[in-house]
Amino acid sequence: MNILLTGGAGYIGSHTAVALASAGYTPIILDNFCNSDKSVLKRLEKIIQKPVACVEGDVRNTSLVEKVLREHEINAVIHFAGLKAVGESVQKPIEYYANNVQGTISLLDAMRSANVKNLVFSSSATVYGDPQYLPIDEHHPLSATNAYGRSKLHIEEMLKDLAASDPAWKMMCLRYFNPVGAHQSGLIGEDPSGIPNNLMPFIQQVAVGKLPKLKIFGNDYDTIDGTGVRDYIHVMDLAEGHLAALSHLSKNPGWSTFNLGTGKGSSVLEMIAAFESSTGAKIAFEYVPRRAGDIASCYAAVDKAQAALSWSAKRTLEEMCASGHQWQNYRHSFV
Ligand code: NAD
Ligand code: UFG
Repeated sequence: MNILLTGGAGYIGSHTAVALASAGYTPIILDNFCNSDKSVLKRLEKIIQKPVACVEGDVRNTSLVEKVLREHEINAVIHFAGLKAVGESVQKPIEYYANNVQGTISLLDAMRSANVKNLVFSSSATVYGDPQYLPIDEHHPLSATNAYGRSKLHIEEMLKDLAASDPAWKMMCLRYFNPVGAHQSGLIGEDPSGIPNNLMPFIQQVAVGKLPKLKIFGNDYDTIDGTGVRDYIHVMDLAEGHLAALSHLSKNPGWSTFNLGTGKGSSVLEMIAAFESSTGAKIAFEYVPRRAGDIASCYAAVDKAQAALSWSAKRTLEEMCASGHQWQNYRHSFV
């Protein structure tokens, strides 16, 4: 089976390409490299031990996408391509809607023309807004507080409308919680440009001395130790969730949503402790005021994915931290 990965050179897409190749699928990447580096392809090929087909281009180029779908005889698409920085989306809403929403419309248009109607979409736990109850199941009310989150909500709704219009479409929205860590080879991983916005890449850069200390955004939340709690999931578990999704998709027409998380929340201090114990590194930190827009706690109900996809996350916090550290050491070596 040939699977098109839009945004496949990025963090989650590259790890999913490895999982797909190991399971006997052929991944084909379409990426414009706006948030990734072409060198990832060589590193991917080293892991997969086969050439990886990659087309450089934008998902908004509908005729190019259609050509790729036809020429590579694509059976299903996993749509990772998009912009994902919450803060930036507030400053640049047009860019976010153009890339994420318009990009998805272009992809769907090309898929309809090429008669490829199987799609897995990278959604986010951000579509649940400020949690009204925990753990968050797929029936939790949806809301958005920024342009990034709203772009994901718009896309989910668009896919639902499309599924209702034509029973040939099979579409799944995977709502990722907090993916962290890296492939065990240490050759690929999360590679944010500039100062990281997210906790784990920040901790990883403190560990290798690239940044002096972590700023913890608030220690007065109503949580186990006052710091924010999130559902961190190993990126390889997440990648394997896409294999389960593809297999479910082949038998289930229509539109569906699934949480991909571990079901367990960890605080910032617990993450620091896990990182220190699994790597031996020391993470200096200080408390600073809460970050605007942050919530206290967020973790997934995972029963639906377990029951319908026969998938659950297996890897530990220590594996997430150690693999992220290994990747950061390698990445730091060629800065
Ligand atoms: P990433 O930025 O590492 O990867 C996205 C890739 O898409 C990059 O390689 C980028 O160059 C490419 N891209 C962006 N716009 C494009 C376009 N118009 N045409 C072609 N390629 C384009 O991000 P990621 O962390 O791998 O996230 C993948 C998807 O998962 C995104 O849609 C993101 O919103 C979603 N998601 C990520 C997280 C997370 O914490 N990483 C959480 C929830 C959801
Ligand atoms: N945090 C710090 N210091 C930092 C960075 C983060 O204390 O330098 C804290 C945050 O306050 C929060 C926790 O670490 O309590 C996790 O923060 P992240 O920025 O790593 O993750 P978020 O849960 O805020 O958001 C991420 C993505 C969103 C996505 C969401 C759910 O950035 O796009 O996960 O998938 F929607």
